[in-house]
Amino acid sequence: MTFKKEPLILAIESSCDDTSAAVLQGRRVLSNVVNTQEIHESYGGVVPELASRAHQKSIVPVIHHAITEANIEKKELDAIAYTRGPGLLGSLLVGGSFAKSLSLSLGIPLIDVNHMQAHILAHFIEDARQENPNFPLLSLTISGGHTQLVLVKDYFELEVLGETLDDAVGECFDKSAKLLGFDYPGGPQIDRWAQNGNPKAFRFGLPKVPNLNFSFSGLKTGIARVIQQGMRNDSNFISNNKADLCASIQDAIIEVLEKKLLEALKITGVKHLVLSGGVAANSGIRARLSDLSNKHQFKLYLPPFEYCTDNAAMIGIVGVLKFEKGAFSELSHSSTARYNLNHL
Ligand code: KG4
Ligand code: ZN
Repeated sequence: MTFKKEPLILAIESSCDDTSAAVLQGRRVLSNVVNTQEIHESYGGVVPELASRAHQKSIVPVIHHAITEANIEKKELDAIAYTRGPGLLGSLLVGGSFAKSLSLSLGIPLIDVNHMQAHILAHFIEDARQENPNFPLLSLTISGGHTQLVLVKDYFELEVLGETLDDAVGECFDKSAKLLGFDYPGGPQIDRWAQNGNPKAFRFGLPKVPNLNFSFSGLKTGIARVIQQGMRNDSNFISNNKADLCASIQDAIIEVLEKKLLEALKITGVKHLVLSGGVAANSGIRARLSDLSNKHQFKLYLPPFEYCTDNAAMIGIVGVLKFEKGAFSELSHSSTARYNLNHL
């Protein structure tokens, strides 16, 4: 029997406001370092130009940290995987240029990775904390920048069934949180406060979008209107109703997601559902989808939090899968803010 060494891959993620580097040996993660940029907090959202500058500052230490923690040397690496898109162009360029230079100087192949595919395939990382799903599966990616329902028939056979036509779920959480006076990103604060509130205390108009697409901008406006109206009648409206407002906002968002998910499960007949993206950390979403999976008999996969939010380990797993099939990239491939999952 011949011994085949599993590839050692360095992965780099820089699509938004997290600079991350990971080392994978086959499907196992040896290190996964994430540096979340704090500079955006005071602006209430990610400022693209500041994000690229912060990536430039942290990319070398983050990669160095990942290599040291994995206890390997650069010369042992078999390939470098990086996020080609989608994301903020300036931020993507920092990770992409670094990955290209390093692959050139080490004389090893370069692999470009679609960030949205990576969120989904993070479920295939070998880790004692998670069970790998079976194909076909339905994936719901919910983050600050994305809301996407995808039918996954195989690692490289993905079909987008629906996505948001305007704001992402995380944006709806964060903008509502801002109206309530929480710092950015306020999604986790809404989650915390919602636990002591009445989810049916306030009603907002829910979006009516055909097929499996989503829309959150109308709901966001509806939430703003309820808050403005309340403030007109009572200047302490927010502080007097904070928990109920948070619970009701969260409940409305979950209702939108739940409806589309059930529709997608019915249409596709798929029995495995994977959840990814930072918003997948929401305790209300996790609880409701767990109930739903018992009621409608599908299997729900919730990855560890570090594989939900933006991280390089998820870029690495796609890198390993592409390495195995020899799908390498060219230095001439440019980073791209829009990158369609239907054309991998
Ligand atoms: O995936 P992620 O780290 O970054 C991208 O946007 O790509 O997701 C960040 C988003 C933010 O909108 C944040 O408010 C939201 O995830 N988030 C949550 C929770 N934890 C993070 N939203 C609601 N409840 C949470 N527990
Ligand atoms: Zn992401």
